[in-house]
Amino acid sequence: MQILSQMAAVGTWSFSRPAVERMSCMLLAGQNATDVVETVMAEFEDDADTGRHIVGRGGYPNCKGVVECDAAIMEGVPGRFGAVAALRGLLVGDGAEAFAQDLGFTSEANDNMLSHHTATAYREFLEKNQPVSGGHDTIGLIALDLSGNITVGVSTSGAPFKSPGRVGDSPLPGCGLYADHTVGAAAATGDGDKIMCYCPSFHVVQLMKQGSSPSEACHAVLADIQRRIGDDKCFEIGLISLNMKGEVGAASSVEFPYTFWNQGLDSVKELINQPKSLNV
Ligand code: GLY
Repeated sequence: MQILSQMAAVGTWSFSRPAVERMSCMLLAGQNATDVVETVMAEFEDDADTGRHIVGRGGYPNCKGVVECDAAIMEGVPGRFGAVAALRGLLVGDGAEAFAQDLGFTSEANDNMLSHHTATAYREFLEKNQPVSGGHDTIGLIALDLSGNITVGVSTSGAPFKSPGRVGDSPLPGCGLYADHTVGAAAATGDGDKIMCYCPSFHVVQLMKQGSSPSEACHAVLADIQRRIGDDKCFEIGLISLNMKGEVGAASSVEFPYTFWNQGLDSVKELINQPKSLNV
């Protein structure tokens, strides 16, 4: 007898709500977790309106005015991972260009990648000639399908006005994302230069493997980082995780809304994680 799994979907930040709604419809229609994450992520990346959240078309450019994107996808099944980093024109970057063209992908002019919002922000950046702080939105999506496949994806245009070629945590397995079909999956959002030093997504999944709930695992990983660097020095980080029972968890160093759906819910719910100090 085939054991049917609890279907579920989760996404980082409030702006993931339409993506999680679409994922819930696709999961209910019987689609598998990888198709769901890949399709919904591609739609999100192509939407210039969501670019202001630092994802894909309409994302913030680097300091030379060029939009460079990082993205990755990982299945819970062992060894199934793919990523792109510092890609220009959504699918094309140095070295990847010939490969992408062989597969039938086309290049986008950088002007098509900038939205009015991000082109204006870039002009202001050039005028002020100073680095910007904050703003590391990044979308992370996790889907669990009826057959018990779990897949996680992340996508970002990276730190606004970054140095050309800068790669953050998102496309690095264990840092921006991790999945293990025996346990669950996790994704990170925030300051990628710092996040990548702690492999937090891998750590969350390992703690779930040792019996922690998604929420306990996310909070334990954040507390470990806070203990190591000092509570007051903690950088921007948000973690989400989903286990194979369709249970969700999150932890963050800033106020962190995320969106969640599982079969027991009529609609997608927005949950808000409030940062917790170690000293409280
Ligand atoms: N978390 C996305 C980045 O820093 O690139």
